[in-house]
Amino acid sequence: MLAQLLYISKRSANCTQEEIKKILASAQKNNPELGITGLLLYSDTRFIQYIEGERTKLMPFYDNLKKDERHHDTILMSLSLVKERIFPNWHMGEKLTSEDNINYISDITKEDKMVFDGVLEGSEDAGQRIQRVLQKFL
Ligand SMILES: Cc1cc2nc3c(=O)[nH]c(=O)nc-3n(C[C@H](O)[C@H](O)[C@H](O)COP(=O)(O)O)c2cc1C
Repeated sequence: MLAQLLYISKRSANCTQEEIKKILASAQKNNPELGITGLLLYSDTRFIQYIEGERTKLMPFYDNLKKDERHHDTILMSLSLVKERIFPNWHMGEKLTSEDNINYISDITKEDKMVFDGVLEGSEDAGQRIQRVLQKFL
């Protein structure tokens, strides 16, 4: 049974760009055999990661990620069963972003921006709507 999970976290001071490269290398190595796909958005201070895969694989995967000291204060925003993947071809897409450059992505509407800001601030009810906004980052 397929499930999706979205969490936000704070990027640790020790998480340099070099470390981000290592994270992505780990994802490229590990995610295909686990059947995990998704998207990692990061700014200088935050992460937003959307992951999808078999329910039984997803929770242990998330529990493991939470222990990584390159981030902290993880908040689970959304967890649900899904019929299909929204990132079937991305073992872990990634994008460096900032709150400022969100304004320059043309098809991000004011409403999308509010959802995104809500997620960054940890507002619970934004979780359900963020998937649609995330797809626009690619
Ligand atoms: C924000 C964040 C996202 C991560 N995403 C993934 C991921 O999608 N896949 C992965 O294998 N490791 C990910 N990691 C790294 C894992 O915590 C862990 O270091 C890695 O799986 C170890 O695998 P390796 O020893 O095989 O490289 C992430 C770490 C952080 C801080």
